[in-house]
Amino acid sequence: MKTILVTGGAGFIGCNLVRLLLRSRDDVSVVNLDSLTYAGNLESLADLEADPRYEFIRADLVDRAAVDAVFEGRNFDGIMHLAAESHVDRSILEPAVFIRTNVLGTQNLLDCARKHEVPRFLQVSTDEVYGTLGATGLFTEETPLAPNSPYSASKASSDLLARAAFHTHGLPVVTTRCSNNYGPFQFPEKLIPLMINNALEDRPLPVYGDGQQVRDWLHVDDHCRALVAVYEGGKPGEVYNIGGNTELPNLTVVRTLLSILGKSEDLIQYVTDRPGHDRRYAIDAGKIRRELGWEPQRRFEEALAETVRWYQAQRVWCERVRSGVYRDYYERQYGSRLG
Ligand code: NAD
Ligand code: DAU
Repeated sequence: MKTILVTGGAGFIGCNLVRLLLRSRDDVSVVNLDSLTYAGNLESLADLEADPRYEFIRADLVDRAAVDAVFEGRNFDGIMHLAAESHVDRSILEPAVFIRTNVLGTQNLLDCARKHEVPRFLQVSTDEVYGTLGATGLFTEETPLAPNSPYSASKASSDLLARAAFHTHGLPVVTTRCSNNYGPFQFPEKLIPLMINNALEDRPLPVYGDGQQVRDWLHVDDHCRALVAVYEGGKPGEVYNIGGNTELPNLTVVRTLLSILGKSEDLIQYVTDRPGHDRRYAIDAGKIRRELGWEPQRRFEEALAETVRWYQAQRVWCERVRSGVYRDYYERQYGSRLG
């Protein structure tokens, strides 16, 4: 049995990844390290709690002693590092927490991985580290880093620390940089779940600026498959871009959601733009396709409609996330067992 440490497994991409690993790999067990910030929701993994190949540990990556304790007495065959503060708007309001988790937390994890000679470290990053594009062009793995938000600056910093751990200490790091994800269990602060929830409740849909900013959308299942492919087959020291070939202006996404839901476009409300808002992201994912045979499998129109149906069916999940009630789950589930 191989043991993988997944950080941030209670988050959106993390919970989908943990489920994929356990369902697709019989010889893998997963330790999920997560501090359970507002974005970490163990209810998203409730179906796995009885699985003997799954273990949850609540720990904050910023707390070096707590991270050391997770490594003591365990032999990890690899680390998939997803834990992060992930929302650009929050980073504009409160950058310090992004520096703590994304920079200091990543360094703590790299240090522990090196000390315990962990043979694989997947650094999960974002296309936002490349900054913004004009009307044409694609981000390649050679595009210079030019982050524009506190979030992307903190992620670029963590990428560089991971790179340094490879070059200086030989830690076998592989890095991925992915475009915008959508799908089940995404916290409803991000564009797609926020717009679905507001539309379902006939509340205004806040479109920043002119709504013509372009993002490249990828279903979370495709991202998770790419993470497994790079974890298993990527070359140490290398970066792999991951994208969906689905560049769309935000306004088109919002209109499509309204159309799927049968709601009026009168719900759209243009609001003040995000400061420093990146205009366009687009990914050249040729390297991962050529070297590892990965391609997106989900078609945007179908997968978006399926995502809408998921949020329609999960009104209780959404309500508990928005009210914060989901945070009681940890105490109910683990309180008496973990102290
Ligand atoms: P998320 O915000 O949904 O989840 C983040 C998880 O990390 C949460 O469970 C949270 O509790 C945990 N966490 C935060 N701080 C922690 C700390 N100090 N110690 C331990 N755990 C902590 O994020 P997501 O959207 O699932 O993104 C996961 C990763 O993928 C991030 O590294 C993000 O930068 C990257 N990424 C996200 C996207 C996207 O579209 N969502 C795209 C590309 C890359
Ligand atoms: O590109 C990958 C990145 O995608 C990840 O690294 C981030 O973790 C993830 O949050 C996402 O960042 P974005 O800033 O692109 O995602 P967000 O959902 O916040 O916004 C998508 C676009 O929609 C962006 O152009 C801003 C716009 N927007 C967003 C919100 C929340 C609106 O117009 N209105 C909104 O209310």
